[in-house]
Amino acid sequence: MTAKVKNVDQVSIRAAQDTDLPVLVDFLAKLALHVAGSPPHTLKEKEHNRLLATLRSSLSDPAKLIVVAQTSDERLVGMGYLYVWRSQGIWEQTADVEFKSGIIDDVWVEPDFRKLGVFSAILRELLAFAESHNIGELILEYAASNKEAAATWAKLGFKPTGVRAAAFTAVVQEALAKRR
Ligand SMILES: CC(C)(COP(=O)(O)OP(=O)(O)OC[C@H]1O[C@@H](n2cnc3c(N)ncnc32)[C@H](O)[C@@H]1OP(=O)(O)O)[C@@H](O)C(=O)NCCC(=O)NCCS
Repeated sequence: MTAKVKNVDQVSIRAAQDTDLPVLVDFLAKLALHVAGSPPHTLKEKEHNRLLATLRSSLSDPAKLIVVAQTSDERLVGMGYLYVWRSQGIWEQTADVEFKSGIIDDVWVEPDFRKLGVFSAILRELLAFAESHNIGELILEYAASNKEAAATWAKLGFKPTGVRAAAFTAVVQEALAKRR
């Protein structure tokens, strides 16, 4: 699979391969810091190796696809990931029916290449992979504070369907203590 990006002649989309993995680990680190709003820093070796191993195992898993965007001089400028998630529809009916969704994660486009259609091209490949697995629904999460992600997903047809709430345990303790 190799596809061109509509708005940028020099960028193409392809499935990730083993030699891409160190750069993809860097992308994941940048993504984590971006979501946390933290300044850039280097990953500890142990964490780098853990991410490398996780990505490497995804490459050989037929239910997972990592896609990269690459310039004509072979620089990686983006990535996206989709895996097949199976669930039993036990609340929906008595028959033993399995539902499949495509979970999208680990989305990153280098800042200089944003708003050029790079991620749309990545998503096209992830969608084709999902459809080849008879998946009719794509699911993803993004931080409510991530405005560019919210804008992008809305443009690409995604609508928020739930709210993920988080609290420090100390805060929950305090709330419960007030209710005694
Ligand atoms: C979110 C992200 C992947 C989008 O990648 P991209 O290659 O810029 O996306 P595209 O160029 O394909 O844009 C798709 C649509 O979203 C719109 N869009 C993208 N970024 C936008 C922004 N910051 N504000 C408003 N609209 C935006 C584009 O204009 C386009 O719509 P249009 O064709 O109607 O103009 C990229 O901004 C990024 O890597 N952000 C940091 C990491 C991140 O937040 N990842 C998502 C975590 S869930």
